[in-house]
Amino acid sequence: MINVRRKRGASQRSTVRTHEQDKGRSARRYAEIAAAAHGAGGRPEPVAYATSLGYSEEDLKTVPADAIMTLGCGTPVTRARLRLGEIVLDLGSGGGLDAFLAARRVGPTGRVIGVDATPEMVKRANATAEKSSIANVEFRYAPIERLPLADCSVDVVISNCVINHCAEKVRAFKEVYRVLKIGGRMCLSDLVGSGPFSDAALEDKVWGEWLAVALSKADYLRAIEQAGFQEVTVEEEVTFHMAENDERLKGRIASIGLTAWKK
Ligand SMILES: C[S@@+](CC[C@H](N)C(=O)[O-])C[C@H]1O[C@@H](n2cnc3c(N)ncnc32)[C@H](O)[C@@H]1O
Repeated sequence: MINVRRKRGASQRSTVRTHEQDKGRSARRYAEIAAAAHGAGGRPEPVAYATSLGYSEEDLKTVPADAIMTLGCGTPVTRARLRLGEIVLDLGSGGGLDAFLAARRVGPTGRVIGVDATPEMVKRANATAEKSSIANVEFRYAPIERLPLADCSVDVVISNCVINHCAEKVRAFKEVYRVLKIGGRMCLSDLVGSGPFSDAALEDKVWGEWLAVALSKADYLRAIEQAGFQEVTVEEEVTFHMAENDERLKGRIASIGLTAWKK
């Protein structure tokens, strides 16, 4: 397994954090983001960032403005080709952008469930749904490693820039496999890294925490297969533009879009 944490030398061990510490820091950071105003804290303006990822302006006009926090790295909801009546699960739903777009696509006979481990995100997304009277979407507080859903209950799982943040990827993918119906699909966008990374990168305020747990593309795909998925197909792969201005990361962080099936 090419986990960048393992590639660090003895001199770096004192800075290695536990997964619990990583999760705690991450949750605090997302709670701060959920509470922040649009474009605050040096983050890019959300609509401009969303269009840079590939969301269309037409699509963005159809969702509540509060949902467009845009913390993702791709457009899994477009690749999922959702149909009317489908039941969709959005892992790490954040402000709810992909969930609200999915809710329009599956229509009133379909349903979307967003799951997120940051309570402030869940509260914010549920408040947005209520304020906008969108009835076929709900957000639940849970870690994706323990999904609050029954076996074989979901047609499609989408996720945008979440699973490579998680400490227990295979466990998360096994949970996705469990809740998908037979014939169901998982459409993901996520970042993958190709290390080794320098100490300075690993200790960076923005990237260090993610680099400490992120898998390479090969290991990420292997984790999906280990969970039982078939026909794992990478449909998109681009270097992640937000990392390109940083010499420590240039060319080493890619955004991938993939689909995998439960047969
Ligand atoms: C980079 S943001 C992406 C948010 C959203 N998907 C988007 O595209 O805007 C990652 C989100 O995943 C959530 N998250 C991270 N680890 C998680 C886990 N283990 N279980 C559930 N949610 C998690 C965070 O709370 C955060 O809202």
